[in-house]
Amino acid sequence: MEIFADTASLDDLKELLSWGIVAGCTTNPKLCAKEGVDFEKRMKEILQLVKGPVSIEVTTNDSSRMISEAKEYNSWGSNVVVKIPMNVNGLKAVKTLSELGIKTNVTACMAAKQAILAALAGADYVSLFWGRIEDMGYDAKKVAEDAVKLFGESSVKSRIILGSFRQVSQVNAAMLTGAHILTITPPVIRDMVTNPRTTETIQEFLDTWEAFRKGK
Ligand code: E4P
Repeated sequence: MEIFADTASLDDLKELLSWGIVAGCTTNPKLCAKEGVDFEKRMKEILQLVKGPVSIEVTTNDSSRMISEAKEYNSWGSNVVVKIPMNVNGLKAVKTLSELGIKTNVTACMAAKQAILAALAGADYVSLFWGRIEDMGYDAKKVAEDAVKLFGESSVKSRIILGSFRQVSQVNAAMLTGAHILTITPPVIRDMVTNPRTTETIQEFLDTWEAFRKGK
């Protein structure tokens, strides 16, 4: 299993990369808008910083515009993955882009049936949105497990990305589904590191050592 950073923030990316745990990055237009910076400049900065795959999302629902945006993004670096929306026009674009050798990540999938369609169309990555699936009242763990099973049975090359996590408990469950990648926001990744009992234990050891040293 790999972890991608779900962010367009350079500071957060630099910090997480320094921990050695991030294998790639996913962005979306909402995350980019939040940064309030020039889109192309920021994407190029991220592509330089992250050695692994970086997903950059198209900003249209029109198939031919998706393809021209994808071609443009693809010229920005060798690690570009073009994020394509899960809809009929998106599937058409994915088919063409996979024939052109441009990598794609079909995004905003909420069901295993959508995920397998994206995979069959030729997507390199398929993203299922855990938090949003739960918001609709569905069992995100079951959806992810179904997708993992379907992908295995169909021998598709696509890798499953689970995203849209709001809390660590969701990540804990997602890690055990067999999905290839979890894309997680920096605050949730930070929460994964800490455990009050760990902090307390480390402090206990340090305090005991300090007391021993002073008593010498
Ligand atoms: C994944 O690639 C998406 O960027 C992200 O996880 C979307 O999640 P949201 O529900 O927080 O918008």
